Amino acid sequence: MKQTILVAGATGMLGSRIAHHLLEREDAIVRLLLRPGLEGKKRATADELVTRGAEVIEGDLADHASLDRATRGVDVIVSAVQGGTDAIVDGQVALAETGKRNGVRRILPSDFGLDLFKATPGEHPAFNARATADKVIEGLGIEHIHMLQGAFMGMLQPGSPLIDYDKGTVTFWGDGKQPIELTTVEDTARMTARVALDRDVPSGKFAFAGDRLSFQQVADIAQTQTGKTFKRHSLGNEQQLRSAMKEMAASDPGRAIMLAYQLYMLNGQTSLDDLQSDRYPDLRLQNYTSFLAEQLGD
Ligand SMILES: NC(=O)c1ccc[n+]([C@@H]2O[C@H](COP(=O)([O-])OP(=O)(O)OC[C@H]3O[C@@H](n4cnc5c(N)ncnc54)[C@H](OP(=O)(O)O)[C@@H]3O)[C@@H](O)[C@H]2O)c1
Repeated sequence: MKQTILVAGATGMLGSRIAHHLLEREDAIVRLLLRPGLEGKKRATADELVTRGAEVIEGDLADHASLDRATRGVDVIVSAVQGGTDAIVDGQVALAETGKRNGVRRILPSDFGLDLFKATPGEHPAFNARATADKVIEGLGIEHIHMLQGAFMGMLQPGSPLIDYDKGTVTFWGDGKQPIELTTVEDTARMTARVALDRDVPSGKFAFAGDRLSFQQVADIAQTQTGKTFKRHSLGNEQQLRSAMKEMAASDPGRAIMLAYQLYMLNGQTSLDDLQSDRYPDLRLQNYTSFLAEQLGD
């Protein structure tokens, strides 16, 4: 039986790929919540999805009447929005509440990270905002599935500030021995499309990962793939990282959030449990070795 899926954030990096994979499925009718006035690359992304059959409702998370129009007749909401607390907390809660009133059965909020539910309140604004929204959503009595895939593998692709393939350096905080979960954007989107439609997935966390590696292991793989020696450079220990976070909190909040991600990568506090990476035998997640080979054009 077909299900109607509303995607919020379909012009974004992840949301556009989720919408793409939903459109591949014969059991999905895909509807997009798009903000008016799209231009350039975002317009092109939306147009391509519409050409492939997606329905469009123009609106905004802040425009509650548009959320009512967008959620009528919908079975499942997938949110891949990004933004401040206005979008992540107020906007997503309004979307879930309106959806619930209109009979939506399930929502997948825009979580997509490490286990944000294990973050210390006040320590990681991006994780804390998602956890705040998710708590309210859970209380609405709607099915809720939290997609948790770790960090996107692109964080470690050539050109990233963390690993320099030309100079042969890997940069991290701590000793670089703490493993973190890594998944490509494409696999995250593929898995999200599957889980959204899978009526047997229960409410709660759905954790999965293409790989689980420490920065030291990433350097080992980079060495094997390129034949180059990679120098490993620690920026400091956990205490020094926490001091840097405190300093940045007032002067550069954006940078402070990036350091908060680094903190949890260093100490493993938000690492994922109970991975369900193998749930769908035909969906094989890419590991870092294969991802890097592809990036290096091997
Ligand atoms: N784990 C990781 O390593 C990692 C890395 C990156 C992202 N993520 C997560 O992945 C998710 C998606 O991130 P992304 O980078 O793909 O986001 P993105 O490219 O910035 O796209 C954000 C989307 O949200 C939409 N949006 C924002 N505010 C909205 C509003 N008020 N009403 C309607 N739509 C609104 C945007 O629409 P417009 O086009 O109209 O602006 C856009 O489609 C987020 O939860 C993010 O934290 C995780």
